Amino acid sequence: MGSSILTAQDLSKVVPSAEGELTILHELSLELNKGDSLAIVGASGSGKSTLLGLLAGLDLPSGGEVTLAGQALSALDEDQRARIRAEHVGFVFQSFQLLDSLNALENVMLPLELDGRKDARERATELLQRVGLGQRLTHSPRQLSGGEQQRVAIARAFAAEPDVLFADEPTGNLDSHTGERISDLLFELNKESGTTLVLVTHDERLAHRCRRLIRLEAGQMVAPLEP
Ligand SMILES: Nc1ncnc2c1ncn2[C@@H]1O[C@H](COP(=O)(O)OP(=O)(O)OP(=O)(O)O)[C@@H](O)[C@H]1O
Ligand SMILES: [Mg+2]
Repeated sequence: MGSSILTAQDLSKVVPSAEGELTILHELSLELNKGDSLAIVGASGSGKSTLLGLLAGLDLPSGGEVTLAGQALSALDEDQRARIRAEHVGFVFQSFQLLDSLNALENVMLPLELDGRKDARERATELLQRVGLGQRLTHSPRQLSGGEQQRVAIARAFAAEPDVLFADEPTGNLDSHTGERISDLLFELNKESGTTLVLVTHDERLAHRCRRLIRLEAGQMVAPLEP
């Protein structure tokens, strides 16, 4: 328990619907140590993005508890959860959520500047070079392809060297060669910085590079965690 960075205990999510209550996640538990990598797989609608949002403290469960970096999230208010996220978490969303008013470099610099880092520009430039976008620094998200926006989002999530990186389909919009490069980068970070990876993916190769894997079916875990 001592080195666990992220735990979920009996996590459930129930939402109201026209037909009554709909359970989108059912009593899911897991425990990840620092430096672990976890793939979450399952069909569309099985609850993967919902689970990721709960684990990252972006959404609150209907039941159960998430503990992130030693903090039980349900005990915190929204501001406190935001602080925990800023300190410990990087997130790559299924929709990239880049800021259109900023160019690629500024999008990646933003979390570093918020962190008060003097080397924000150099580090952001280096990260964008690592994802193959050294020639696109001053492009706005609108001027980038879907896969390029994906790579900017990944560079931004890496920027602050998070303890846990959550990514929803990080290779989803990329051709297989670029996807492979991004996978390599994810695991380099995992190795270099001990960043824990929690990845939702349909990419079999990426899933099998993770040390652990869970499969969701209609909100329930069907494949056990392999230690
Ligand atoms: N706020 C909500 N209100 C009602 N239903 C929701 C809500 N959020 C998610 N759902 C439903 O819960 C189920 C799981 O959604 P989720 O987005 O987690 O699926 P997913 O596994 O990520 O799918 P995909 O692979 O298509 O991204 C879906 O059937 C979705 O319609
Ligand atoms: Mg999803």
